[in-house]
Amino acid sequence: MTGEPNLIPAPRRLEPTGGSGPIGDTVVCRVDPLLGPEAYRLTVAADRVEIVGGDDAGVFWGRQTLRQLSGPDAFRRAPLSREPAVVPYLTVEDAPRFAWRGLMLDVARHFLAKDDVLRYVDVLAAHKLNVLHLHLTDDQGWRVEIKRYPRLTEVGAWRPRTRLGWGEPELWDERPHGGFYTQDDLREIVAYAAERHIRVVPEIDLPGHSQAAVAAYPELGNADAVDTGAPGVKTDWGISPHVLAPTDAVVEFYEGVFTEILEVFPGRFVHIGGDECVKDQWRESPTAQARIAELGVGDEDGLQSWMIRHFDRWLAARGRRLIGWDEILQGGLAPGAAVMCWRWYTGGVAAAEAGHDVVMCPQQEVYLDHVQSEDAGEPVPFGWVHTLEDVYRFEPVPPRLSGTPHAAHVIGTQANLWSEVTENRARVDYQVFPRLAAFAEVAWSTLPHPDKRDFGDFDRRMHEAHYARLDALDIAYRPPTGPHPWQQRPGIPGRMHHKPRRTWYMA
Ligand code: ACM
Repeated sequence: MTGEPNLIPAPRRLEPTGGSGPIGDTVVCRVDPLLGPEAYRLTVAADRVEIVGGDDAGVFWGRQTLRQLSGPDAFRRAPLSREPAVVPYLTVEDAPRFAWRGLMLDVARHFLAKDDVLRYVDVLAAHKLNVLHLHLTDDQGWRVEIKRYPRLTEVGAWRPRTRLGWGEPELWDERPHGGFYTQDDLREIVAYAAERHIRVVPEIDLPGHSQAAVAAYPELGNADAVDTGAPGVKTDWGISPHVLAPTDAVVEFYEGVFTEILEVFPGRFVHIGGDECVKDQWRESPTAQARIAELGVGDEDGLQSWMIRHFDRWLAARGRRLIGWDEILQGGLAPGAAVMCWRWYTGGVAAAEAGHDVVMCPQQEVYLDHVQSEDAGEPVPFGWVHTLEDVYRFEPVPPRLSGTPHAAHVIGTQANLWSEVTENRARVDYQVFPRLAAFAEVAWSTLPHPDKRDFGDFDRRMHEAHYARLDALDIAYRPPTGPHPWQQRPGIPGRMHHKPRRTWYMA
């Protein structure tokens, strides 16, 4: 290996000590808690390679850095040669800025095979990201086996056809689409991730985004207001009006779902969704209206809040913590609940100021389903343009919180991939990369003010080292010059928004 080591994410301190040499078989690893959680110190010298971690995770991240130093072929599944890698002599001292460094995969809109999810665990590990959030249920599909309610997957895990893209012309893929993970599949994913110091956060979305669940068990819906047996699993995109009925029976049903979820996912955080609950059916349902009066919660927002608070208490009583999208602030936030802030920074700022922990993932900055350039060739362009540089200049702690005690409530940040237009692994790769590399640097490294960030340096490290690592990992990223012809989707309509002013300044 020649030249200066080009690491992504950038470490806190990197000191070349001159020269380089082959690394032998032995890497000495030990833990020194004084370094702090996930921190590590890597020393490569002529006589030794040593990794000291603040904990086991720190040792693991140090190993990822050593792998990066060993050249791109270290990211292949087997070595190309028997020669040991030549690594520069140096010391790296490093620690993450944020404890929660996540990627959300929406496996509901398009199912992603278990093997592809396991591969994404490896990809996260290589980028020192430590949370995999699985969006397991939505209007268009239910993807987790629940043994006591088999129809959730028998009926809810597939749809007869799928809308292709957005808008006009209206196109359909007439093939049925589906799939789900058994509980053992998910246990395997959780264990594989744990070996890589990655936590898996399951999301069961309620009370909205529930059409697949209602298709499976129509009694979960607002049957006194609409025919809940009719619609089936949603085949088109957009938000369904089919939301859960706010009854004790439905709450008990979901307690059954979460009982099984807790058996599979041992992590502290359980995501209950809470986003985009359309209240029309509740307004029309005599049962829902009577419930509002009986509970004295005032209106439909209060009803949603009642449901969220119920599951907050229910999870807390079992040693877990609820996290939900920022709509869970509507009608009052449950004590102890954490918020995933996706609509600008507003909900996250309010939640942090009220003492709640926040994961920042504003759609205006880090939604990876959004298009990555203005080029006409972008496949099924959706949302706002978020270029690689835009993501590199994303700042999770907005000015209003920065420098205040509330900033500590921003426990982390996450990039989210919704999968309406990513029908397979290659399309997922294209949307996620290279932008996840920029996101990983934002989540791990302590970078300057967005305006002062050296994107040129990041881009140089991408070109000199990291694209070659992504090639070795066989990631079908968007090339810097634009999509390969086979990555385009001519004729499938997208839906682009006008670029907002950068939101960081508005918070
Ligand atoms: C969301 O994007 N509906 C959380």
